[in-house]
Amino acid sequence: MNLIDYQSRIEVVLKRELTNSDIPSRLLQAMNYSTLNGGKRIRALLVYAAGEAVQAPLEQLDNVAAAIECIHSYSLIHDDLPAMDDDDLRRGKPTSHKQFDEATAILAGDALLTFAFELINHRDSNLSDTQARKISAILSESAGAIGMVGGQILDIQATGKELTQAQLEDMHRRKTGALIRAAAMCGGLCIESGNLNKEIAEKLESYANNIGLAFQVVDDILDIEASTEELGKTSGADIDLGKVTYPSLIGLDASKQLAKNLYNESIKSIHEIGENTELLSQIAELVISRRK
Ligand code: IPE
Ligand code: IPE
Ligand code: MG
Ligand code: MG
Ligand code: MG
Repeated sequence: MNLIDYQSRIEVVLKRELTNSDIPSRLLQAMNYSTLNGGKRIRALLVYAAGEAVQAPLEQLDNVAAAIECIHSYSLIHDDLPAMDDDDLRRGKPTSHKQFDEATAILAGDALLTFAFELINHRDSNLSDTQARKISAILSESAGAIGMVGGQILDIQATGKELTQAQLEDMHRRKTGALIRAAAMCGGLCIESGNLNKEIAEKLESYANNIGLAFQVVDDILDIEASTEELGKTSGADIDLGKVTYPSLIGLDASKQLAKNLYNESIKSIHEIGENTELLSQIAELVISRRK
């Protein structure tokens, strides 16, 4: 399967999983609104690509990929709230709190985060108990206080202030890198034995850490260089808010060079993972060449 096939596959899985008549309808509507709305699905693709690299059974990857996209969608809903980045546009449509209201947006985010763990631990997940436990551990750590949420508070605290480059890197690795790393590692853990060889795990981790940081560096660049139409979110929002970004700290050219260097490093690690790494390379390419 190629990336487009996997992109279609994750849409089907998410649509199937996000239907539960027991969920109060307004909440389900808001969960669907922010999840089934044309994200690039990079994190889901990483789960599938890492799974393919270790020949994991496809049916084990579906719920893992869906879980990560639910966590990601939750993070975007909350990131856009007035108390955070106060954005009105996401994926080309009004943000959740604009379409619904703040309370609904907060709760839809809460529900998507919790639902992710249901997807992993559900008896239909096709994962063994050991895999579900290991994947839950990685997901909770990377989405939580030392990972994404930790990165988000550093971002909020830094707004309108100055950071050193080391502090900015730490913030980006947490707020964006952590979940991207988790996607690759969790895909790898779907290996049939449930035990990922230490060397392969390290290579996969190095690949993912590099593209994880590159992803946010490119996001910072696109905030300046791409239009609102291309992005589906408000261009120039970082400058308006006084965010510390790579371009604001080291300039556009150095930021582009950094993204390229991180890409090269990620490709080096891939070569040592195994044979089926074509999709991992394509994703790395996508991360640095994207326009949205
Ligand atoms: C946006 O992520 C938020 C960041 C972590 C930079 P994506 O660019 O992956 O957003 P979607 O899922 O494609 O909308
Ligand atoms: C978001 O970073 C990281 C998250 C954890 C959601 P940004 O605030 O730069 O993401 P966008 O630009 O709004 O998508
Ligand atoms: Mg933000
Ligand atoms: Mg934002
Ligand atoms: Mg951004």
